Amino acid sequence: MKVAIIGSNGQLGSDLVRAFAENKDEVCPLTHANIDISNYESVRSALEKENLSVVVNTAAMHHVDNCERDPAAAYSVNSIGARNLALVTRDIGATLIHVSTDYVFDGKKTVPYLEEDAALPLNVYGNSKLAGESYVRTMNPRHFVVRTSALYGIHQCRAKGGRNFVELMLELARTRGKVRVVNDEFVSPTSTWILAQQILRLSQTDQFGLYHATSEGSCSWYEFAREIFDVAGVKVELEVAAAGDFPMKTPRPRYSVLENRRLKEVGLNLFGPWQNGLRQYLTDSELLPAAAAEA
Ligand SMILES: NC(=O)c1ccc[n+]([C@@H]2O[C@H](COP(=O)([O-])OP(=O)(O)OC[C@H]3O[C@@H](n4cnc5c(N)ncnc54)[C@H](OP(=O)(O)O)[C@@H]3O)[C@@H](O)[C@H]2O)c1
Repeated sequence: MKVAIIGSNGQLGSDLVRAFAENKDEVCPLTHANIDISNYESVRSALEKENLSVVVNTAAMHHVDNCERDPAAAYSVNSIGARNLALVTRDIGATLIHVSTDYVFDGKKTVPYLEEDAALPLNVYGNSKLAGESYVRTMNPRHFVVRTSALYGIHQCRAKGGRNFVELMLELARTRGKVRVVNDEFVSPTSTWILAQQILRLSQTDQFGLYHATSEGSCSWYEFAREIFDVAGVKVELEVAAAGDFPMKTPRPRYSVLENRRLKEVGLNLFGPWQNGLRQYLTDSELLPAAAAEA
């Protein structure tokens, strides 16, 4: 199978390149320098000669405040970019796997969101991603739209820069010894390596459609931090904060936990509890001291 990975040097894209390569698929890695998804001609010329079976799109403008500041740019990447990919993949007969987000929901539910729940985004990022989903779902029948949440991985998130949440918590513990984390925002933290395995698995099927794809279970950011420190064996003063203590410029859903209902229905759900994904990531990234890894 020949597979193009768009955003191949990103946090998720890097793990996708490795997952497909380890599966002995022929991988065509595409960075922003090789393709600009917001430009139809760029998409066509990058993809049409490659004889591709599958195109995986991880490219997005997903810094939430930047999207709010520049909605035209957000829509041109997240919506028109998805449209361009849907059109070109349809024309070349390739499957499109398009990565989307939990931020399509407003966070007013208190139990996990299902694929069929109404999407009511609170911000430009969520709205522009939802429009992108719609283009993909209507323009190329051979599609997988994969919504995920709170990613962390070995490779840096290019849009957000700096450290991921796990690295940030460990860094703050080391430098300050005291950390305050919000306890009233809930997510399903998801490792990009496990998500890459899930996307690889979907690509081997023709069970096209919309999927929620996150680790099992959920936690507040505070509970996530607690688990990080417990697993890593780090002693730190961890304090509870409320979302209101760190006012955000852009509204975000308070509760964006996703249920992998459709993956389970088709017997393809590979995710285990989020705590297992965290432990595997800490071991793989060598952030876990040897003693803690063996415990
Ligand atoms: N990170 C999260 O917590 C999270 C949560 C839910 C959903 N998601 C979704 O997951 C996906 C992957 O996230 P990630 O964390 O892996 O992101 P990332 O590290 O920022 O990677 C995104 C990649 O897309 C490229 N890109 C940006 N604009 C492009 C364009 N117009 N044309 C071609 N390439 C472009 C970037 O290249 P440059 O940096 O060179 O521009 C980068 O390689 C995104 O679709 C995001 O919406 C992420």
